[in-house]
Amino acid sequence: MTVIDTLIRDFNFSDAEKARKRMQRYIKMYPENDLHQYAQKIKREEEIELTKIQLRKELRSYPIKSKYLLEESCKIVNDDRFAEEFLNGQRDLFDKLISYLNGNRLFKLYNNDFRKVKIADNSVDVIVTDPPYPQKFLLLYRDLALFAEKVLKPGGSLFTMAGQSYLPEIMNLMNIPGLNYNWTLCYLTPGGQSPQLWQRKVNTFWKPVLWYVKGKSSRWLGDVVKSDVNDNDKSHHFWGQSLSGMSDLIKRVSRPGETVLDPFMGGGTTGAVCLLALRNFIGIEIDKEAFITAEKRLKEINRRITKS
Ligand SMILES: C[S@@+](CC[C@H](N)C(=O)[O-])C[C@H]1O[C@@H](n2cnc3c(N)ncnc32)[C@H](O)[C@@H]1O
Repeated sequence: MTVIDTLIRDFNFSDAEKARKRMQRYIKMYPENDLHQYAQKIKREEEIELTKIQLRKELRSYPIKSKYLLEESCKIVNDDRFAEEFLNGQRDLFDKLISYLNGNRLFKLYNNDFRKVKIADNSVDVIVTDPPYPQKFLLLYRDLALFAEKVLKPGGSLFTMAGQSYLPEIMNLMNIPGLNYNWTLCYLTPGGQSPQLWQRKVNTFWKPVLWYVKGKSSRWLGDVVKSDVNDNDKSHHFWGQSLSGMSDLIKRVSRPGETVLDPFMGGGTTGAVCLLALRNFIGIEIDKEAFITAEKRLKEINRRITKS
């Protein structure tokens, strides 16, 4: 019996022939490497593929009327990371998705000052937002921190974009008990013509996204977010973010079926991404005109994704 035969017997691969060929190729290329470790890797990959098939099958067994929601959720469970987390025992991720698909969806918009809106304490998974940057709005960052500390679930995260000019003041203002600074993400905005900050003599191609946590986070994430080149859509709001950049951010920092809140909704880009990526969404916007634009945009997307 060769080493490969022994490994095939011990690992009980679901596709033994494929595993045999892979190991034969591997040992030819890397004779000095540990073949047992490679067999483990093949087995893990097989398990992930089988999990994806099982999850897709389970999804299709639910009476999901919307074609978009079904296709999108199949894409979600077809992701290696999702299947791997499921295999590692994190079944709640799948349960949240199923609950969302079964109609436990939250999509709520408020035309008000976020400080006056009643959101239940400890009810929000993630806040993703983009407050105004000029100096006269700085105090809003303190109120945002206080608001986040109340409404976030324990371990929940706040991701707020911030202008570079007043970063020290902003971080000072956001330093409140119960909400801990965790990291700064870099949100890249590549393109031909960058905004010029005359006072600081800077052409900028990125902005910081400050990450705060209520208590301690268990979330891992990469810290560079990227908008597509020259994706600079201002058709919904004068300060609007791009759909591509927000999509990258939301998908990094939240999971399908979770509740995302944006207290400075503007033209609704965060909401648009959340609806399309199967997240619950709560949006708040003080300005009537911006609110109407966002509401129209989001209701249209919601109608499109839920139709059968
Ligand atoms: C930078 S814009 C957000 C743009 C948004 N990210 C987008 O992509 O369209 C900030 C928004 O916050 C709103 N705002 C300012 N103060 C607010 C408050 N206290 N409560 C709710 N919204 C507020 C402004 O009216 C503005 O529309």
